[in-house]
Amino acid sequence: MDRYAVIGNPIAHSKSPQIHAAFARQTGAALSYEAILAPLDGFAATVHAFRAAGGRGMNVTVPFKLEAFALADRHTPRAHAAGAVNTLAFGTDGILGDNTDGAGLVRDLTLNLGCALAGRRLLLLGAGGATRGALLPLLGTGPALLTIANRTVAKAEELVASFAPQAGGTRLDACGFAALAGRQFDVVINATAASLADEVPPLPPGLYAPGALAYDMMYGRGDTPFMTAARADGAAQVADGLGMLVEQAAESFALWRGVHPDGGAVLAELRRQLAAT
Ligand code: ATR
Repeated sequence: MDRYAVIGNPIAHSKSPQIHAAFARQTGAALSYEAILAPLDGFAATVHAFRAAGGRGMNVTVPFKLEAFALADRHTPRAHAAGAVNTLAFGTDGILGDNTDGAGLVRDLTLNLGCALAGRRLLLLGAGGATRGALLPLLGTGPALLTIANRTVAKAEELVASFAPQAGGTRLDACGFAALAGRQFDVVINATAASLADEVPPLPPGLYAPGALAYDMMYGRGDTPFMTAARADGAAQVADGLGMLVEQAAESFALWRGVHPDGGAVLAELRRQLAAT
């Protein structure tokens, strides 16, 4: 049986084993998928031990995505752009590092939420790893405008400078939160860590164009603080990041197995469980 695992610290509450078990059932694949706790100073050793024991691939989560990037022998273009790796595939020719987070976000937005991105005005809040990971896949959908707003404006400006060559026909710009006053967007994505502290980025009112979607990469049992604030500011549709979690897993599964599972069915199952807790 082919072995896969998610590696992180902490790892006990990871939903990845459940998600991948559901994908395996769905696609009729005989595989095992476990959660592995790596010591903070023992990431590479833990990966190598899993691989030596016959492991075929791993998902990588906090705090090891940068170490996973350094460990991989080769990178996909989207991992290279993200500067971080959440998926490792072990082959005879070495370790391939991929990053499926941004593609998972795009799949959740477009497929599960029915939100077209081509030609639209997108706002990304935050300029950390979550934003960097999402940029190349988001640009690939061909939005008319992609604005990155961040508390520390210089970090947003750095991202714009480094992604400008890949922006294609998209206007890419950076600003602080206050400078968003008077502007409107069709899709607003919260990629800041503010929700972890139960905070919301200080956004000016009137940000949401008619029919706009507000998307939080975080998720919880009910609405996140960002979702609540977005509703109050007139967002027509709000969503949390549970679908992104499922879809990034589906992208990893596709990389390993060559078959793309149906994320929507597994998302519905997880949503029911979350509501019942
Ligand atoms: P991640 O990998 O999750 O993106 P990160 O790289 O530490 O984490 O980045 C965190 C992001 O959340 C940054 O954009 C940070 O803003 P700064 O660059 O100004 O630090 C943003 N952030 C964190 N707490 C925030 C808060 N309370 N309000 C607004 N933005 C916040």
